[in-house]
Amino acid sequence: PVLVVDFGAQYAQLIARRVREAKVYSEIVPHTATVDEMLAKDPAAIILSGGPSSVYAPGAPVVDPKLFDAGVPVMGICYGFQAMAQALGGEVAETGLSEFGGTDVDVCATGVLLAGTPEHQVAWMSHGDAVRAAPPGFEVLATSAGAPVAAFEDRERRLFGVQWHPEVKHSEHGQAVLEHFLYGGAGLAPDWTADNVVAEQVEAIRAQIGDARVICALSGGVDSAVAAALVQKAVGDQLTCVHVDHGLMRAGEVEQIERDFVAATGVNLVIRHEKERFLAALAGVTDPEQKRKIIGREFIRVFEDAQRDIVAEAGAHGEEVKFLVQGTLYPDVVESGGGEGAANIKSHHNVGGLPDDLTFSLVEPLRTLFKDEVRAVGSELGVPEEIVSRQPFPGPGLGIRIVGEVTEHNLEILRRADAIAREELTRAGLDGEIWQCPVVLLADVRSVGVQGDGRTYGHPIVLRPVSSEDAMTADWTRLPYDVLSVISTRITNEVREINRVTLDVTSKPPGTIEWE
Ligand code: XMP
Repeated sequence: PVLVVDFGAQYAQLIARRVREAKVYSEIVPHTATVDEMLAKDPAAIILSGGPSSVYAPGAPVVDPKLFDAGVPVMGICYGFQAMAQALGGEVAETGLSEFGGTDVDVCATGVLLAGTPEHQVAWMSHGDAVRAAPPGFEVLATSAGAPVAAFEDRERRLFGVQWHPEVKHSEHGQAVLEHFLYGGAGLAPDWTADNVVAEQVEAIRAQIGDARVICALSGGVDSAVAAALVQKAVGDQLTCVHVDHGLMRAGEVEQIERDFVAATGVNLVIRHEKERFLAALAGVTDPEQKRKIIGREFIRVFEDAQRDIVAEAGAHGEEVKFLVQGTLYPDVVESGGGEGAANIKSHHNVGGLPDDLTFSLVEPLRTLFKDEVRAVGSELGVPEEIVSRQPFPGPGLGIRIVGEVTEHNLEILRRADAIAREELTRAGLDGEIWQCPVVLLADVRSVGVQGDGRTYGHPIVLRPVSSEDAMTADWTRLPYDVLSVISTRITNEVREINRVTLDVTSKPPGTIEWE
């Protein structure tokens, strides 16, 4: 892999993503990893990321100079660039001139790194200190007003660096600079593609699972679907998927899983139709937290029942069910410290009647992938497009999109309105701009309207289109008025119980994305 050494800024993930966009596999390692630990991963190249510190700040992370003698190509970015300069005998100083944001850079020699990029370019900077003199053996490639040395390289030792952030889209030629390092500087080939990822993962899954049996909870979302499809490709009939139909899915979703997903992947699928059970448990409940707890609790019980049946059936054939598939993604792994162990979970407490000592090992084939890469792998595997491109949908489903009681009647109203909104957003080509668009039924609210010369007293529906990177923060999406107008007209015409369509124009914070 290409290792991206994380110096504690938010840029390491972005760098890792850009490297992968260049079709080269990358992994993030913390700066606390020793050089030996890094080399043990047999890196094809190493990138030192930016960081919040000044190299002079007490406790600032340092780079062990040994790193540069290992014969591995290295590129330093921002803080990494300065740390590199300092470690190799260059001069880093406080210039008194900070540069933040888009900055003019003058190229004095293109070298490998800046080949084919213009003499004057805008690059995105964020630094106080600057490299005043390059270390011996380095050629200076660029300067800016605040950075006497803004880029350098030592082609012989294959060491490179830039003061700016090439991973940020505001840097005009950022991706080109990264690719020049990867291809030209480090001699790597762009061969990390979805089909190679599939081939690699299939091999790894086979090695892990052998001929044991494995189960997977299929929610209908992208991650569990793609994880299941990968495991299916690797071990075929050894896999059984379970989908808990809680009756809170949107129109057509269970059918999509039941029919299209099975047709495309050939997985063994067990669907537990448990709508009545969930609706009974939710009867009379309007408090959001209570709804969530009830749905979560029932879900676990149903899944445990399914698990127990599968284990019993496999046991009758003398087989052992040892593995559980999870759709864990790379950002979760990085955020929880990137640890590699901790793969053994105890299956849920004894509720479902499982033996006390039954443990599953986790199979997590998406552990190294970002969301968009998961989608690419899903497409490669032939997972239906409707599932691969699906926007996030909460586990408790429509149960937390009805303000008021979750009843069959309210669910039906909401499903029809939601289907219209989704259809029109897709028709208008807006799916790419929207992170997700919850449609919320205010079952507890009524308002007076007029339709066909008669008074109506119906419910409002809320459209909640949001744009977001990661759902932690979000802004409301400025949908075109004509699209909103079509959605509004259609919903009020086609869903008799709804006589008002409203738009939620609140960002997150202060609002959350979902209403409950
Ligand atoms: P909020 O409403 O907290 O939502 O801004 C952030 C993101 O999380 C989704 N969400 C959930 N996903 N189980 C899930 O799997 C849940 O209980 C749940 N609640 C919210 C929500 O759709 C949004 O993408």
